[in-house]
Amino acid sequence: MTNEQYHKLVQPYDDARQILLTRLDILNHTLYGEASAMPIHNIQDRIKKKESIEEKLAKKEKNPSVENAKNCLQDIAGIRVICYFVDDIYNLIQILKTQTDLVIIRERDYVADPKPNGYRSYHLIVGVPVYCLDGMEYFPVEVQFRTMSMDFWASMEHRISYKKNRTDETALKKELKKYAEMLVKIEKRFEQHNEVGKL
Ligand code: GTP
Ligand code: MG
Repeated sequence: MTNEQYHKLVQPYDDARQILLTRLDILNHTLYGEASAMPIHNIQDRIKKKESIEEKLAKKEKNPSVENAKNCLQDIAGIRVICYFVDDIYNLIQILKTQTDLVIIRERDYVADPKPNGYRSYHLIVGVPVYCLDGMEYFPVEVQFRTMSMDFWASMEHRISYKKNRTDETALKKELKKYAEMLVKIEKRFEQHNEVGKL
Protein backbone atom coordinates (compact mmCIF):
# COMPACT_ATOMS: atom_id res chain seq x y z
CA MET A 1 0.00 0.00 0.00
CA THR A 2 1.46 3.36 -1.01
CA ASN A 3 1.11 6.44 1.18
CA GLU A 4 -1.31 7.88 -1.33
CA GLN A 5 -3.47 4.74 -1.30
CA TYR A 6 -3.44 4.78 2.50
CA HIS A 7 -4.68 8.38 2.69
CA LYS A 8 -7.43 7.73 0.17
CA LEU A 9 -8.45 4.58 2.04
CA VAL A 10 -8.75 6.20 5.48
CA GLN A 11 -10.49 9.45 4.43
CA PRO A 12 -14.09 8.14 4.61
CA TYR A 13 -13.28 6.27 7.87
CA ASP A 14 -12.07 9.58 9.24
CA ASP A 15 -15.33 11.21 8.11
CA ALA A 16 -17.33 8.45 9.83
CA ARG A 17 -15.26 8.95 13.00
CA GLN A 18 -16.03 12.68 13.02
CA ILE A 19 -19.75 12.16 12.45
CA LEU A 20 -19.92 9.73 15.39
CA LEU A 21 -17.85 12.04 17.62
CA THR A 22 -20.37 14.83 17.01
CA ARG A 23 -23.28 12.53 17.86
CA LEU A 24 -21.56 11.46 21.08
CA ASP A 25 -20.88 15.07 21.96
CA ILE A 26 -24.56 15.94 21.52
CA LEU A 27 -25.58 12.97 23.70
CA ASN A 28 -23.05 14.04 26.31
CA HIS A 29 -24.67 17.42 26.86
CA THR A 30 -28.28 16.29 26.44
CA LEU A 31 -28.50 12.81 28.03
CA TYR A 32 -29.35 13.82 31.60
CA GLY A 33 -30.62 17.28 30.77
CA GLU A 34 -28.24 19.05 33.15
CA ALA A 35 -24.87 20.53 32.28
CA SER A 36 -23.53 19.40 35.65
CA ALA A 37 -24.13 15.72 35.01
CA MET A 38 -22.47 14.66 31.83
CA PRO A 39 -22.01 10.92 31.26
CA ILE A 40 -18.67 11.19 29.41
CA HIS A 41 -15.42 11.95 31.20
CA ASN A 42 -13.32 12.04 28.04
CA ILE A 43 -13.02 10.61 24.56
CA GLN A 44 -9.97 9.28 22.75
CA ASP A 45 -10.00 8.52 19.07
CA ARG A 46 -7.63 7.47 16.37
CA ILE A 47 -7.28 6.37 12.78
CA LYS A 48 -5.19 3.22 12.44
CA LYS A 49 -1.71 3.97 11.13
CA LYS A 50 -0.54 2.52 7.83
CA GLU A 51 2.00 0.28 9.61
CA SER A 52 -0.67 -1.06 12.04
CA ILE A 53 -3.04 -1.83 9.17
CA GLU A 54 -0.31 -3.74 7.37
CA GLU A 55 0.75 -5.59 10.53
CA LYS A 56 -2.81 -6.65 11.34
CA LEU A 57 -3.37 -7.89 7.78
CA ALA A 58 -0.11 -9.84 7.96
CA LYS A 59 -1.33 -11.46 11.20
CA LYS A 60 -4.48 -12.52 9.34
CA GLU A 61 -2.22 -13.84 6.54
CA LYS A 62 -3.60 -11.33 4.04
CA ASN A 63 -1.72 -9.18 1.55
CA PRO A 64 -1.48 -5.54 2.66
CA SER A 65 -3.84 -4.26 -0.06
CA VAL A 66 -6.51 -1.55 0.15
CA GLU A 67 -9.11 -4.15 -0.78
CA ASN A 68 -8.13 -6.45 2.10
CA ALA A 69 -8.01 -3.56 4.56
CA LYS A 70 -11.59 -2.62 3.64
CA ASN A 71 -12.83 -6.19 3.77
CA CYS A 72 -11.00 -7.55 6.80
CA LEU A 73 -10.58 -4.65 9.26
CA GLN A 74 -13.36 -3.06 11.26
CA ASP A 75 -11.19 -0.94 13.50
CA ILE A 76 -9.57 1.45 11.00
CA ALA A 77 -11.53 4.16 12.84
CA GLY A 78 -11.62 3.84 16.62
CA ILE A 79 -13.31 5.84 19.39
CA ARG A 80 -12.90 5.18 23.11
CA VAL A 81 -15.63 6.73 25.25
CA ILE A 82 -14.61 6.98 28.89
CA CYS A 83 -17.59 7.39 31.21
CA TYR A 84 -18.01 7.90 34.96
CA PHE A 85 -20.44 5.09 35.77
CA VAL A 86 -21.50 1.75 34.28
CA ASP A 87 -25.05 3.18 33.95
CA ASP A 88 -23.67 5.95 31.73
CA ILE A 89 -22.33 3.33 29.31
CA TYR A 90 -25.66 1.51 29.03
CA ASN A 91 -27.65 4.77 28.79
CA LEU A 92 -25.45 6.14 25.99
CA ILE A 93 -25.67 2.88 24.04
CA GLN A 94 -29.44 2.68 24.51
CA ILE A 95 -29.91 6.15 23.02
CA LEU A 96 -27.32 5.63 20.28
CA LYS A 97 -29.31 2.58 19.19
CA THR A 98 -32.40 4.76 18.66
CA GLN A 99 -30.49 6.60 15.90
CA THR A 100 -31.81 4.39 13.17
CA ASP A 101 -29.50 5.55 10.42
CA LEU A 102 -26.62 3.91 12.30
CA VAL A 103 -26.09 0.17 11.89
CA ILE A 104 -24.83 -2.00 14.73
CA ILE A 105 -22.43 -4.38 12.98
CA ARG A 106 -21.10 -6.11 16.10
CA GLU A 107 -21.67 -5.89 19.81
CA ARG A 108 -19.61 -7.32 22.67
CA ASP A 109 -20.56 -6.70 26.28
CA TYR A 110 -17.40 -7.37 28.26
CA VAL A 111 -18.91 -5.32 31.11
CA ALA A 112 -21.59 -7.90 31.92
CA ASP A 113 -19.21 -10.65 30.77
CA PRO A 114 -15.60 -9.70 31.44
CA LYS A 115 -12.82 -11.48 29.54
CA PRO A 116 -11.09 -14.25 31.56
CA ASN A 117 -8.12 -11.94 32.22
CA GLY A 118 -10.38 -9.33 33.85
CA TYR A 119 -10.76 -6.96 30.86
CA ARG A 120 -14.02 -5.01 30.90
CA SER A 121 -15.41 -2.71 28.21
CA TYR A 122 -18.45 -2.51 25.93
CA HIS A 123 -17.46 -2.83 22.28
CA LEU A 124 -19.64 -1.74 19.39
CA ILE A 125 -18.79 -1.74 15.72
CA VAL A 126 -21.06 0.96 14.32
CA GLY A 127 -21.74 1.39 10.60
CA VAL A 128 -21.90 5.14 9.93
CA PRO A 129 -23.50 6.39 6.70
CA VAL A 130 -21.09 8.64 4.82
CA TYR A 131 -22.51 10.54 1.86
CA CYS A 132 -20.29 11.62 -1.01
CA LEU A 133 -20.69 12.40 -4.69
CA ASP A 134 -21.43 8.87 -5.79
CA GLY A 135 -23.95 8.11 -3.05
CA MET A 136 -23.86 6.67 0.46
CA GLU A 137 -21.70 3.98 1.98
CA TYR A 138 -21.50 2.66 5.54
CA PHE A 139 -18.09 2.81 7.17
CA PRO A 140 -17.39 0.91 10.38
CA VAL A 141 -16.14 2.63 13.53
CA GLU A 142 -15.04 0.58 16.55
CA VAL A 143 -16.38 2.21 19.70
CA GLN A 144 -15.17 1.07 23.12
CA PHE A 145 -17.25 2.29 26.07
CA ARG A 146 -15.47 2.15 29.42
CA THR A 147 -15.63 3.67 32.85
CA MET A 148 -12.53 5.41 34.15
CA SER A 149 -11.69 2.40 36.28
CA MET A 150 -12.06 0.00 33.33
CA ASP A 151 -9.82 2.28 31.31
CA PHE A 152 -7.28 2.51 34.12
CA TRP A 153 -7.04 -1.29 34.29
CA ALA A 154 -6.94 -1.80 30.49
CA SER A 155 -4.27 0.87 30.01
CA MET A 156 -2.09 -0.53 32.79
CA GLU A 157 -2.57 -4.11 31.58
CA HIS A 158 -1.65 -3.07 28.05
CA ARG A 159 1.43 -1.25 29.29
CA ILE A 160 2.60 -4.04 31.60
CA SER A 161 1.84 -6.92 29.26
CA TYR A 162 3.46 -5.15 26.32
CA LYS A 163 6.79 -6.80 27.09
CA LYS A 164 6.08 -10.40 26.17
CA ASN A 165 7.73 -13.57 27.48
CA ARG A 166 8.06 -12.47 31.06
CA THR A 167 9.21 -15.11 33.51
CA ASP A 168 6.53 -14.06 36.00
CA GLU A 169 3.67 -14.31 33.51
CA THR A 170 1.35 -16.64 35.44
CA ALA A 171 1.75 -14.76 38.70
CA LEU A 172 1.26 -11.45 36.90
CA LYS A 173 -1.96 -12.59 35.24
CA LYS A 174 -3.35 -13.68 38.58
CA GLU A 175 -2.35 -10.38 40.14
CA LEU A 176 -3.96 -8.33 37.34
CA LYS A 177 -7.18 -10.32 37.62
CA LYS A 178 -7.24 -9.50 41.33
CA TYR A 179 -6.82 -5.77 40.58
CA ALA A 180 -9.73 -5.97 38.12
CA GLU A 181 -11.94 -7.45 40.84
CA MET A 182 -10.82 -4.80 43.32
CA LEU A 183 -11.68 -2.08 40.82
CA VAL A 184 -15.19 -3.51 40.34
CA LYS A 185 -15.70 -3.23 44.09
CA ILE A 186 -14.44 0.35 44.22
CA GLU A 187 -16.61 1.26 41.23
CA LYS A 188 -19.69 -0.13 43.01
CA ARG A 189 -18.91 1.97 46.08
CA PHE A 190 -18.72 5.11 43.94
CA GLU A 191 -22.02 4.11 42.35
CA GLN A 192 -23.76 4.33 45.72
CA HIS A 193 -23.17 8.08 45.58
CA ASN A 194 -24.44 8.59 42.03
CA GLU A 195 -27.59 10.69 42.12
CA VAL A 196 -28.05 11.23 38.40
CA GLY A 197 -27.85 8.75 35.59
CA LYS A 198 -31.45 7.57 35.47
CA LEU A 199 -33.03 8.07 32.07
P1 GTP B 1 -8.65 -7.28 17.83
O1 GTP B 1 -8.22 -8.16 16.71
O2 GTP B 1 -7.52 -6.88 18.75
O3 GTP B 1 -9.41 -6.07 17.37
O4 GTP B 1 -9.59 -8.16 18.73
P2 GTP B 1 -11.06 -8.71 18.42
O5 GTP B 1 -11.42 -8.50 17.00
O6 GTP B 1 -11.18 -10.08 19.00
O7 GTP B 1 -11.97 -7.73 19.23
P3 GTP B 1 -12.06 -7.49 20.77
O8 GTP B 1 -13.41 -6.89 20.93
O9 GTP B 1 -11.74 -8.69 21.57
O10 GTP B 1 -10.91 -6.42 21.07
C1 GTP B 1 -10.79 -5.23 20.37
C2 GTP B 1 -9.95 -4.22 21.13
O11 GTP B 1 -10.34 -4.21 22.51
C3 GTP B 1 -8.47 -4.44 21.17
O12 GTP B 1 -7.83 -3.94 20.03
C4 GTP B 1 -8.08 -3.67 22.44
O13 GTP B 1 -8.07 -2.26 22.21
C5 GTP B 1 -9.25 -3.96 23.35
N1 GTP B 1 -9.00 -5.16 24.17
C6 GTP B 1 -9.58 -6.37 24.03
N2 GTP B 1 -9.13 -7.23 24.95
C7 GTP B 1 -8.23 -6.56 25.72
C8 GTP B 1 -7.42 -6.93 26.85
O14 GTP B 1 -7.42 -8.05 27.34
N3 GTP B 1 -6.62 -5.95 27.37
C9 GTP B 1 -6.59 -4.67 26.87
N4 GTP B 1 -5.77 -3.78 27.46
N5 GTP B 1 -7.33 -4.31 25.80
C10 GTP B 1 -8.15 -5.24 25.23
MG1 MG C 1 -8.63 -3.90 17.43
